[in-house]
Amino acid sequence: MTGLANAAPHVPDLSGKVALVTGAGRGIGRAIAIKLARHGADVSIVARSEADLNETRARIEQIGRRCCTIAADLTEAEACTAAVASTVSAIGSPDILVNNVGAAAFKPVWEYSAEEVDWHYRVNYRAMHLCSNAVLPHMIPRRIGTIINIASSSGKKPYKHQGPYCAMKAAVISLSKVMALELREYGIRVHVVCPGAVDTKMADAVHPERDRTGWMQPQDVAEIVLDLLALPEHLTVDEVVMRRYLADPM
Ligand SMILES: NC(=O)c1ccc[n+]([C@@H]2O[C@H](COP(=O)([O-])OP(=O)(O)OC[C@H]3O[C@@H](n4cnc5c(N)ncnc54)[C@H](OP(=O)(O)O)[C@@H]3O)[C@@H](O)[C@H]2O)c1
Repeated sequence: MTGLANAAPHVPDLSGKVALVTGAGRGIGRAIAIKLARHGADVSIVARSEADLNETRARIEQIGRRCCTIAADLTEAEACTAAVASTVSAIGSPDILVNNVGAAAFKPVWEYSAEEVDWHYRVNYRAMHLCSNAVLPHMIPRRIGTIINIASSSGKKPYKHQGPYCAMKAAVISLSKVMALELREYGIRVHVVCPGAVDTKMADAVHPERDRTGWMQPQDVAEIVLDLLALPEHLTVDEVVMRRYLADPM
């Protein structure tokens, strides 16, 4: 064991903090929402399925934290603004926003219709941009806040049959860095996390045939999100690229 492996991890105390996590009905978003609650945050969660949201909420309330569920389709611009407004009135102004909502289809570039291209833009990029826009008026005056955008390794390198998804995740990575630059003077931190394959329903839909042995779990991404929230004030991490150990480096 090295000294580093033995080093005590920083554990953030999120008591009194409010977090908004999009796409938290299942998968990575649910794991992040529960992780933040375990560390003291009250959490607002958004997805379309009320049944999934209720299951996440039950897990958060079991921990003893407040949870506000918002059943909404974040491909609608107004839903992004409304999700932030509902969070503010139910549990307070968000200190943390995790833009996790995202989705993908899987086919050759030339087979995507105009509607499908638009959908990829709305669910992967626009929801992230508009939820951030809606939350910032609650962070900027307080000079506090962290925004964590969940992008993907698909934004770092090309994957066959994921054209619009790769392109939109690259856009998420790019916007995250512009946001980090513009928001630094307001004391707001912005990070982007780029996971490789994670064992979730989304992966089921895109790669039903693949063997999942050794794949990352939603919990692994949640751990990284927590680590980002534990960074000391004098430093930041712009981008985290994570992969299962046996996958190729990116
Ligand atoms: N799984 C992977 O291999 C992987 C790898 C890298 C990055 N990511 C990224 O990680 C994030 C989470 O992925 P995941 O694998 O956890 O996906 P998932 O299992 O499909 O979960 C996605 C969550 O987002 C919600 N959602 C989807 N479309 C929505 C919409 N239009 N409006 C509101 N909520 C919506 C879903 O609930 P409803 O369907 O009920 O709305 C669900 O709660 C995504 O941004 C994805 O791109 C995933």
